[in-house]
Amino acid sequence: MTSPISISFVETDLDQMREREGKIAVFATEDGKIDASARRANRLTKGAVARLLDSEKWGKVKEGEGVAMSFPTGLLATALMVVKLPRRPSIELARKTGATLAKFKGDEALLVGAGNLTRIDEISLGLALRAYAFTDHKTETETEAGAATIMCSKPEEVAAAAKPAMALAEGVFFTRDLVSEPANVLTTNDFAARLAAMQEIGLEVEILEEDELGKLGMGALLGVGQGSDAPSKVVVMQWNGGGDEAPLALVGKGVVFDTGGISLKPAAGMEDMTMDMGGAGVVSGVMRALALRKAKANVVGLVGLVENMPGPNAQRPGDVVKSMKGDTIEVINTDAEGRLVLADVMWYAQDRFKPAAMVDLATLTGAIIIGLGHENAGVFSNDDGFCDAFLKAAATEGEGAWRMPLGAGYDKMLKSNVADMKNIGGRPAGSITAAQFLQRFVKDDTPWIHLDIAGVASVKSDTVLAPKGATGWGVLALDRLVRDRYEG
Ligand code: BES
Ligand code: ZN
Ligand code: ZN
Repeated sequence: MTSPISISFVETDLDQMREREGKIAVFATEDGKIDASARRANRLTKGAVARLLDSEKWGKVKEGEGVAMSFPTGLLATALMVVKLPRRPSIELARKTGATLAKFKGDEALLVGAGNLTRIDEISLGLALRAYAFTDHKTETETEAGAATIMCSKPEEVAAAAKPAMALAEGVFFTRDLVSEPANVLTTNDFAARLAAMQEIGLEVEILEEDELGKLGMGALLGVGQGSDAPSKVVVMQWNGGGDEAPLALVGKGVVFDTGGISLKPAAGMEDMTMDMGGAGVVSGVMRALALRKAKANVVGLVGLVENMPGPNAQRPGDVVKSMKGDTIEVINTDAEGRLVLADVMWYAQDRFKPAAMVDLATLTGAIIIGLGHENAGVFSNDDGFCDAFLKAAATEGEGAWRMPLGAGYDKMLKSNVADMKNIGGRPAGSITAAQFLQRFVKDDTPWIHLDIAGVASVKSDTVLAPKGATGWGVLALDRLVRDRYEG
């Protein structure tokens, strides 16, 4: 498991500026105002900081970004960065600043002279999140990443404020690790074992095996996994930090690998389907963060873990399966498997927990990438108030989310000649018909949001808070939703 780098908060000790090896960062405002740390750095470097702040270059530096000077005279450090930041940055700017520090830091130790800046907790979160690297399968023994030390006034207070932020970083890292793992490592068994291990941090975790799922009538989910040797599972994680109110249910698609099944996917890019458990990964990361920060809310996370493989026992196009709800489904395309998994897990979640609301997450359709690219997840909902609350939480956290429509006209596209519905609606509006399919498994009185995260779970270029690869998209937004709506 990848752990966030160690970040400690200490009283400002200006003598450290000269003595520290590794890298050093100080801050200055747009108009060149500096604090004691930056002043000391300036004195030690014989005015280099002041010259930078007087230069034309400083005017061009964006807030939250900085200028690095290599091997500065007067310091033992290998580099000194001056970061442009107002005294009271927004959350977004503070996190971006943290990301700047992470990129500057690299693998070296970092000393930050933060003085009495506000939002040092958010700067730390940005630093922790951007410093992620998935190195579990690199055999070259890389040098351990150096720690970050933040000098500030009232370090105990700042450390206390940063604690929930560090819980969040751990949750995001948990998600990113799961999404990054190859499918020969993250099997359904391995995934379930990693979730069971979270009992140590206070989550109640149950693993439902195939015989149990059969008894529950989950024919839709089991049909997807029947072509694989890996046993299908549903894992239930409960965090009961609230009173006796009904929980929020989070449901995730956990297809550990999606070959498409008999409706086999083309070879090019198929390796990306190691991330087809992204929805389950986000649910798991949120549950981890909630437990680590001891959230005062009741949240239950359920993931459907299956592998979609071709084989002698695989589901065929044309097969008819029966869902736990009782509705029958004609499987036209075995590659539209995520919705089959979610249908049963969502029904089970409502049947057992009578949740106050339900959010499902899934790398569900390629069509959502055509529609929204990698900037926004697709958001579908049957409840405007609930949906607006989520969109607000996502906006606050800087996680792109865009609402898409639902409607009876789309639902009609799922009509089957032989069963109650078919599992695809055809090429037009592919993400919407997938959502319509899911809505058939949502009870009328359950406020529900479906998040299609196919475009955002893993990306091919760096984002503000993550290096290229798994993003952990949704962990921050859902944690924020829980804080704003369920923690009073
Ligand atoms: N896992 C895929 C969707 C996906 C595509 C996720 C690209 C991430 C990146 C899903 O199971 C799938 O194969 N969907 C099909 C549905 C189609 C057969 C109706 C698709 O989107 O092509
Ligand atoms: Zn598929
Ligand atoms: Zn899939």
